[in-house]
Amino acid sequence: MTKNIASARISSESSRLLKELNNSFPFDKLLYKEDIQGSLAHATMLEAQEIISKDDLENITVGLNEILEEIESGKWSLKDDSEDIHMAIEGRLTSKIGDAGKRLHTARSRNDQVALDFRLYVQNHNIEIMGLLLELINTIVNVANEHTETLLPGMTHLQHAQPINFGFHMMAYANMFKRDCERFASSYERNNYSPIGCAALAGTPHNIDRELTAQKLGFNAPTQNCLDTVSDRDFALEILFNISTLMMHMSRLSEEIILWCSSEFRFVTLSDKHSTGSSIMPQKKNPDIPELLRGKTGRVNGNLIGLLTVMKGLPLAYNKDMQEDKEGVFDSIKTAELSLAVMSEMLLEMRINSDKMQNACMVGHLSATDLADYLVKKIGIPFRDAYHTVGNVVNMAENVGIDISELTLEQLQSIEPRIDNEAIDILDNRASMNARTSQGGTATIRTIEQIADMKKWLELYTSH
Ligand code: ARG
Repeated sequence: MTKNIASARISSESSRLLKELNNSFPFDKLLYKEDIQGSLAHATMLEAQEIISKDDLENITVGLNEILEEIESGKWSLKDDSEDIHMAIEGRLTSKIGDAGKRLHTARSRNDQVALDFRLYVQNHNIEIMGLLLELINTIVNVANEHTETLLPGMTHLQHAQPINFGFHMMAYANMFKRDCERFASSYERNNYSPIGCAALAGTPHNIDRELTAQKLGFNAPTQNCLDTVSDRDFALEILFNISTLMMHMSRLSEEIILWCSSEFRFVTLSDKHSTGSSIMPQKKNPDIPELLRGKTGRVNGNLIGLLTVMKGLPLAYNKDMQEDKEGVFDSIKTAELSLAVMSEMLLEMRINSDKMQNACMVGHLSATDLADYLVKKIGIPFRDAYHTVGNVVNMAENVGIDISELTLEQLQSIEPRIDNEAIDILDNRASMNARTSQGGTATIRTIEQIADMKKWLELYTSH
């Protein structure tokens, strides 16, 4: 029988089923880099504080670096029946260097060790996701920049509402992704505190220096309260929430792309690289990519709710339930990173059918509000009356079978004799779009300003 190195009071071999339930190694082996990085920093601190000798530190450092090399080169394939990555690496180290390996766990517990490894992993991916988001925003800004004069029907309730330009529409998404990016950045800052040295829950009598490990690992400082630290998974919940919100935004963009690809819209055409066929209908080109991005939002939301539910009833401090924190986070991170890369690539290659967008603006009397505003401003009719007058104008256009922007002056005057020629210009869809010059409005000049501001933000963010 091989004795479990972390079980001083367990005398018999664990049952196979217990191992299957208990062991996190099959999934937490993903944390090998962070585990080794954390152990190297911890050992360096132990030596600096004269808790272990220089020779021990030397052996531990060489041994851990060898293990890292073995894993990365596939020499140690991480097929192990260890309980978790922490025990696997400690076991491997001890088999290599003997007693020095057994001293590594002085003044720490797996509770602060796992809190450290997992936090480092999440912090690295906060940064990784921010990089991918910046690329996506950059792609969107470039598309928007090409289309500040491309008219399309702006919608509410998925019904034609007012003319806008496509650049303005895309910049709405750029703003969502900017907020997402800022959310990952603020989570990074809030959680950039080192858990190591908290030990099991209460700290340690050893004369450790948590400032030193925090600094070695790139954290701002050590966390304040050990009991909180080994119980805390807020950093994991935050990345899950941030990913859910990001995927919700990508899902909305995906939904619009799916609609725009349909024969009813044809506003965009996805590149063949990003379309799939049907096994029976030879004519089909399906937008599977945006459909999958939309669909994957379901699983990341599941991961968020899953961990919130795991955490909600746990007494302080560590409970084994918390081992359930990892798979959902790994899955959401992988999903978000792949989705972001795919979204950028798809947008880069997507063809925009400006003529189709423009033609669609001739349906739905998009400039009706402009005529009401004109009646208010020019003739002094109270808005509610103007609103009803324009309702009559729209009814007339419907009866004739044309758009409000195609009515003649005579037709307009048959409803309201005080209407003059200026109304004809005002009813033009492009004029309507360009009239919306209020702050944040769709007018081409305002859209161009929004693009310039976003570019400035991108430069600033990319540079730090
Ligand atoms: N595999 C465990 C986890 O992922 C590591 C922490 C174990 N700690 C303990 N006291 N059993 O949560």
